[in-house]
Amino acid sequence: MSSVTSHGRRHYLFLLLSLLMLGTRAVVNAADTFDSGRNITDGETLVSAGGSFTMGFFSLGVPARRYLGIWFSVSEDAVCWVANRDRPINGTSGLLMLGDAGRLLLLDAGSGGQVIWSSNSTGSTTNSSTAQLLDSGNLVIRDGATSADSQLPMILWQSFDHPSNTLLPGMKTGKNRWTGAEWHITSWRSPTDPSPGPYRRGTETKKGSLPENAIWNGRAKTYRTGPWNGVYFNGVPEMASYADMFVYEVTVSPGEVSYGYAAKPGAPLSRIVVTDAGTVQRLVWDASSGAWKTFYSAPRDTCDAYARCGAFGLCDTGAASTSMCGCVRGFVPASPSAWYMRETSAGCRRSVALDCAGATDGLAVLRGVKLPDTYNASVDVSVGMEECRERCLVNCSCVAYAAADVRGGGCIIWSDTIVDIRYVDRGQDLYLRLAKSELAEDASRKMSAAIIATICVACAAAGVFLSLAFVIWRNRIRRIVSRDARRVAHKNDAAVHVEEGKPDPDDAATAVTAGSIDLATLEKATRNFSTRNVIGEGAFGVVYEGQLLQDHPLVAGLPGNGRKVAVKRLKVSSSLPSRVLSDYTREVETVCNLRHDNLVRLLAHCSDGNERVLVYEYVHNKSLNLYIFGKGSARASLNWARRLEIIRGIARGVWYLHEGLGEENVLVHRDLKPSNVLLDRHWRPKIAGFGTAKLFRDDLTGTQTVVVSPGYASPEYAKDGDMTPKCDVFSFGVVLLETVSGRRNSASPSVVSQAWKLWEERRVMDLLDPAVCRRPRGSGSSEIWSSELRRCIQVGLLCVQEAPGDRPAMSAVVGMLGSKDSRLEQPKCPALLQLGPTCYGGNGMSLDWEPSTVVNLT
Ligand SMILES: *[C@@H]1O[C@H](CO)[C@@H](O)[C@H](O)[C@H]1NC(C)=O
Ligand SMILES: *[C@@H]1O[C@H](CO)[C@@H](O)[C@H](O)[C@H]1NC(C)=O
Ligand SMILES: *[C@@H]1O[C@H](CO)[C@@H](O)[C@H](O)[C@H]1NC(C)=O
Ligand SMILES: *[C@@H]1O[C@H](CO)[C@@H](O)[C@H](O)[C@H]1NC(C)=O
Ligand SMILES: *[C@@H]1O[C@H](CO)[C@@H](O)[C@H](O)[C@H]1NC(C)=O
Ligand SMILES: *[C@@H]1O[C@H](CO)[C@@H](O)[C@H](O)[C@H]1NC(C)=O
Repeated sequence: MSSVTSHGRRHYLFLLLSLLMLGTRAVVNAADTFDSGRNITDGETLVSAGGSFTMGFFSLGVPARRYLGIWFSVSEDAVCWVANRDRPINGTSGLLMLGDAGRLLLLDAGSGGQVIWSSNSTGSTTNSSTAQLLDSGNLVIRDGATSADSQLPMILWQSFDHPSNTLLPGMKTGKNRWTGAEWHITSWRSPTDPSPGPYRRGTETKKGSLPENAIWNGRAKTYRTGPWNGVYFNGVPEMASYADMFVYEVTVSPGEVSYGYAAKPGAPLSRIVVTDAGTVQRLVWDASSGAWKTFYSAPRDTCDAYARCGAFGLCDTGAASTSMCGCVRGFVPASPSAWYMRETSAGCRRSVALDCAGATDGLAVLRGVKLPDTYNASVDVSVGMEECRERCLVNCSCVAYAAADVRGGGCIIWSDTIVDIRYVDRGQDLYLRLAKSELAEDASRKMSAAIIATICVACAAAGVFLSLAFVIWRNRIRRIVSRDARRVAHKNDAAVHVEEGKPDPDDAATAVTAGSIDLATLEKATRNFSTRNVIGEGAFGVVYEGQLLQDHPLVAGLPGNGRKVAVKRLKVSSSLPSRVLSDYTREVETVCNLRHDNLVRLLAHCSDGNERVLVYEYVHNKSLNLYIFGKGSARASLNWARRLEIIRGIARGVWYLHEGLGEENVLVHRDLKPSNVLLDRHWRPKIAGFGTAKLFRDDLTGTQTVVVSPGYASPEYAKDGDMTPKCDVFSFGVVLLETVSGRRNSASPSVVSQAWKLWEERRVMDLLDPAVCRRPRGSGSSEIWSSELRRCIQVGLLCVQEAPGDRPAMSAVVGMLGSKDSRLEQPKCPALLQLGPTCYGGNGMSLDWEPSTVVNLT
């Protein structure tokens, strides 16, 4: 496409010149518009008014095969539309002209003006139609004159209605039910051949089913996103993470079923592509590195392969030991011998028949799944969950039901086989209709659990002896342990299968590189660091609420209407050596590159004289301690499901700090505690306060500094300052137990000792905060819920083990919290801290972003 480059540049110049000439209409129009008075020949281009898109001729691989297409001006390889997909023009004799009746014609002038491609648009009543390349990447043909004061001219044809392999903001896939017209994107045959390949990505538009996107290979479905749940496609939870950039447009009306998306103001360029290999990717342009970043790519893993485990099969990437496939509760493999040979497509059959007439059947809940294909399901958006349940219980043909909209309401009922179910992050609950005897199994399971628990207590007692022995031994080899901690962490990874994908080291590169910001702007934003703007204060600085002006470049990178920022002004001693300052800058830049859903983002920093100011994203719901240790309604606003999601989110955030930046960049938070966990509007946890501790390393304050929050610091750190990722694991364990129980570890008895006591007495369920409703409404079985709780507390106890080597790595913690049935080790007696008489951190009602105390070791 090199020939295109030079012409593209020439047009930019041309555009500039025409702007300088104050745009007489003919000249300006020439840049992005043409009509029957002008032909586009090979070598000429059309550039959209804002410069985002360019249209012209190009070739792929074979220089003589020329195509007419539209590409991103900043990235010529990113071709988003091709006219003559399967008929390349031989050589540079191509010519695009606007023919009679507003029809766009691509001719091969070299072969006597043969029509290679035509827009087939009809209906122009005049001979004065025009074609224009809009800044959205849409090529439109309009009927008649385009003067601003006339009525809007009719659009005769637009390239957005005839997509290639790319979906741009403003395009859609789906179906017009009146005309029967369908929109989908089709893959290229190969990277150098844009002719339609076998893969197609579109929207499932069957009447009565919920809209969902799918990929087909020919007629066979290879992947589905899961139904639209009101917020995102049920199997694509990451959509919520980039909802700050895009608006998802799902339309279900008598006339149309479609999915499309629009870019929010200031969002970077983006596209969705179906590749020639049959994957769908959402790519976002990162202007700072000049590269496309992948925000979503599907199918993600083997469980995303359509109907991998057959009818009533359940795919679990956390169950490598059973080759990922299992059956939903109450079902067994239809053909055990085939299943043994890993041939699972025949699926599962019901083990005990339903008792339709006797009305003894019950319901079991399957939590956190991608809902089965809704193709044959019946959907009624007007009824609530209670009625949905009733309908399923009275109608014998019902096999399962689920909510159609996670925000409440709606009812999906499946009445034949259900396929393509998998565990997924933030998945939905699916209620299965089962025979009474299947549900009665709960009771016998409890019995066997009791037997196992007895054995476990014996094991635990042995464990206590072992750990006592270990404590003595540990003191001698502590140095070795801390040096090897990293290696231990990685060994543990291998032992536990992790459900979600590893944090992508690439994420760091996708960060909007936080730049520096000048002091004057920050003074303006915080009303001169007014005391009225103070929202928090800690050992290292004061945090202010700030309001940036609308047009500040930082604002563009903020989610939602986030013109608010949190501005942290650090207390820095006045005479710092330059080496320390350069260390500081480097470290700030590292932290700027951190970008994760569960970390508060550092947006910018400012170094001016002795001022060191950090600008963070503003998080609305304040910190976790205000809720879990708060009063009645604040406490009760965190139900069990929310608490579990918060715990999982914190785990993912800490995991990212430890491993998300690659082997060489292990960040230890050092001061994880509920007041350092902020909650956003959707109660998603965002970890704050990381980095600051690290920024204040030894030399910055002149003495060796250890940041200690009593109750949260691990024993080896509090005592000797040994700092490894396992210290964070310890603090995480305390935060987990505090979040479950609403008790402070710094209270007496501490939450850790309380948890251990209840664990030994096999009454661990009693640890749950009494403010939390015990039986979640609408849940069929409390068994699953209580096993979730027990599992969570067990993970917490494993994290607060005395010896760092006994604590799991953060990746393992994420895996254990995410999966439902992977084996957990039995905890030994945890580190029961000897706390001083004072409890730091005050009444817990202040939003302190900071460590509680600073201990200077001598
Ligand atoms: C455009 O090309 C057509 C076909 O070659 C030719 O007849 C016509 O005169 C050309 N128009 C202009 C304005 O060059
Ligand atoms: C393309 O054009 C060249 C020269 O103009 C000719 O030699 C060649 O055979 C043509 N190829 C095809 C496939 O028409
Ligand atoms: C335009 O119409 C012709 C004849 O009906 C058809 O052969 C051709 O495929 C159509 N082209 C497009 C781009 O739809
Ligand atoms: C458009 O132009 C063609 C030939 O140039 C002519 O035959 C036709 O009548 C014109 N149509 C109108 C509506 O002016
Ligand atoms: C829907 O029902 C038809 C006819 O019974 C069946 O062939 C098809 O496999 C079903 N599709 C799904 C997704 O269950
Ligand atoms: C039971 O469900 C099936 C399938 O959804 C439906 O066709 C039938 O009308 C229902 N029967 C009753 C009695 O509601």
